[in-house]
Amino acid sequence: MKKPVIAANWKMHKTIAESADFARSLKAAFPKPQGTVIIAPAFTALAAVGDVLKGSAIHLAAQNLHWEEKGAFTGEIAAAMLVDAGCDCVIIGHSERRAIFKETGDWINRKVAAALRAGLTPILCVGETLEEREKNLTFPVVERQLKEALNNISSGDIKLLSIAYEPVWAIGTGRNATAIQAEEVHRFIRTILKDTCGEHDAADIPLIYGGSVKPGNTGKLLAEPDIDGALVGGASLDFDSFAAIIQNASKEKGN
Ligand code: PGA
Repeated sequence: MKKPVIAANWKMHKTIAESADFARSLKAAFPKPQGTVIIAPAFTALAAVGDVLKGSAIHLAAQNLHWEEKGAFTGEIAAAMLVDAGCDCVIIGHSERRAIFKETGDWINRKVAAALRAGLTPILCVGETLEEREKNLTFPVVERQLKEALNNISSGDIKLLSIAYEPVWAIGTGRNATAIQAEEVHRFIRTILKDTCGEHDAADIPLIYGGSVKPGNTGKLLAEPDIDGALVGGASLDFDSFAAIIQNASKEKGN
């Protein structure tokens, strides 16, 4: 069975010291996690957390990047800078970036390409708003977001990604998609990936669910065949809660 991928998205939370302490505890609690555990602290904490995680099995992700290698882009961070800080993954196209910071499909596509060039694993986020779901637009929206993000990315590169399905209406609302709702979209994403990379590679791409994941709903969500893990916001800020999510995911998919 595929091992789970559990990622913490800390968004704009935690100081450098808080992030490093958490990373130290995580490294001690999960010396050999059953699957992939990733934490995504704020930019300011990346280098310190990168130092803590050196030599451990826990992966470090950034929450965003810019697609250019360097230059006059005040306030932006390049892929090579993330690698320098110890990252091996990067979240791209989170719905908060799309909605609040007006990221377009074209930008997200450039960011995916830039991450891959630098050897970073993109965790590409897609997902519909409540309004889109109510208008039965979930599949077309997710398909458009995927196609825009993966435009001109080779099938060999696409298989290096993780894809997070995060329905916007479930993020930070306490209202998670049911396992059945999430599985339906995950299966749809898998079908699109099969068309681009073939059945074998598409089956290996981690498709992870995000949106009000908690210790209590992790097992049920990950019991679904196409839900390979979770991207966790609020419930990843507390150590015990995130550790319980990792443990529950391992119970469901670890062996
Ligand atoms: P949430 O956030 O777990 O707080 O809903 C998930 C995310 O935005 O990645």
